[in-house]
This record gives sequence, C-alpha cells and structure tokens, in this order.
Amino acid sequence: RRLVVLVSGSGTNLQALLDEIAATGTEEYGAEIVAVGADREGIEGLARAERAGLPTFVCRVRDYPTREEWDAALAEAVAAHEPDLVVSAGFMKIVGKEFLARFGGRFVNTHPALLPSFPGAHGVRDALAYGARVTGCTVHFVDDGVDTGPIIAQGVVEVRDEDDESALHERIKEVERRLLVEVVGRLARNGYRIEGRKVVIQ
Ligand code: GRF
Repeated sequence: RRLVVLVSGSGTNLQALLDEIAATGTEEYGAEIVAVGADREGIEGLARAERAGLPTFVCRVRDYPTREEWDAALAEAVAAHEPDLVVSAGFMKIVGKEFLARFGGRFVNTHPALLPSFPGAHGVRDALAYGARVTGCTVHFVDDGVDTGPIIAQGVVEVRDEDDESALHERIKEVERRLLVEVVGRLARNGYRIEGRKVVIQ
C-alpha cells in the first residue's frame, strides 16, 4: 500500500511511521510512505521527509486565489503519488469538497483528544481548560466536518494536576504515535469497510 502523509509541524507522527516501516520492512508492515506534503515551508516535518529521501510538496493557501483552488491543487499534488491511503499527521488545514471527493474513505487523521470531545485546532488546551481528568487521542477517517468522521481507534491519557498544555500534549503524542502506527498498518494490511459510523477492519 502506498501512503502519502500530510504534515504542518514537527512531524513526530510521520517520524514514528518512518521508523516503524524502516524497522519492520515495507512488506511486513504492509505500506510504504511515497511522499510527504505540507501547507507551509520550513517545518521539521518536511526536513524529516527529506532526510528519509522522500519526495515532498508544499501547497500554501496564500498561493491560490480561492480556498477551492488550494483544495483542488492539494488534491492534485497528493494524487500525483497515487496513494492508497492519505494520512493527516498534524496537518492543520481543513480540506474541501474536491479533496474529499477524491480521497474520502481513505483519508485518515489523528487528533489529540477523545472525539467527539474537544475537536478543532486546540484539543489539548481545551481539554485542560475544561478540567477533563482523562483525555487522549483519536484516529479517524476524515469526513466533511471538522474532526467528525468515523472513529477507528482511541487511546486514553490521564490528565495530571501539574500538566500544562505542552506537557500534556507530549504525553498524548506518546500514545498517539503508537496508535497511528498500529492503525495505519492494520488498515493497509487487512483492508477495511466503513459502515455508517463504524469502521470494520478485516
Ligand atoms: C499531533 O498531536 C496531532 O494530533 C495534532 O498536532 C500534533 C502534530 O504533531 N494535530 P507532529 O507534527 O506529528 O509532531
């Protein structure tokens, strides 16, 4: 299976996938990353891809007259690598109709909270501010909402009294990276069906 991974930041989830595939081998894992895309230049996630010798591409919203044209360009850039599965690993843009028309049903996102709680760009901060005693991470298929697609797997993380956002996010990311590696491998190796809100992995 061919994976394209989309990043916007440090790319530690991408790195976890790269390390797992390097350690277990593409055959055994069931997938290989064929390209990494981003919505901005100069991020560590792209540097990690370049260090791994992978093709990269950047689609910046401000380079396009409309959001729809950006969305179509991003879909084109991803499609050029003929992915079986697209993984958003800290990609911080909401894709639109064109992208979902082409990759819906095979576009997976990881979110650092237990959806449906605390969707959006500040899931860790929002859980902390709310006083949640447990939070965690969710790997789900992307649909036309924000963090609302069918849930594939979740991991729970205790919130500690001394936590600030970055400490809690770091602890969530430890669980999230393992969850993403496990889920992507199973989806790639076993195949899956989406039945309404349920995801059935063969
Ligand atoms: C992850 O926790 C992801 O869920 C969130 O941002 C973080 C990205 O981390 N959207 P990284 O770029 O993979 O290190």
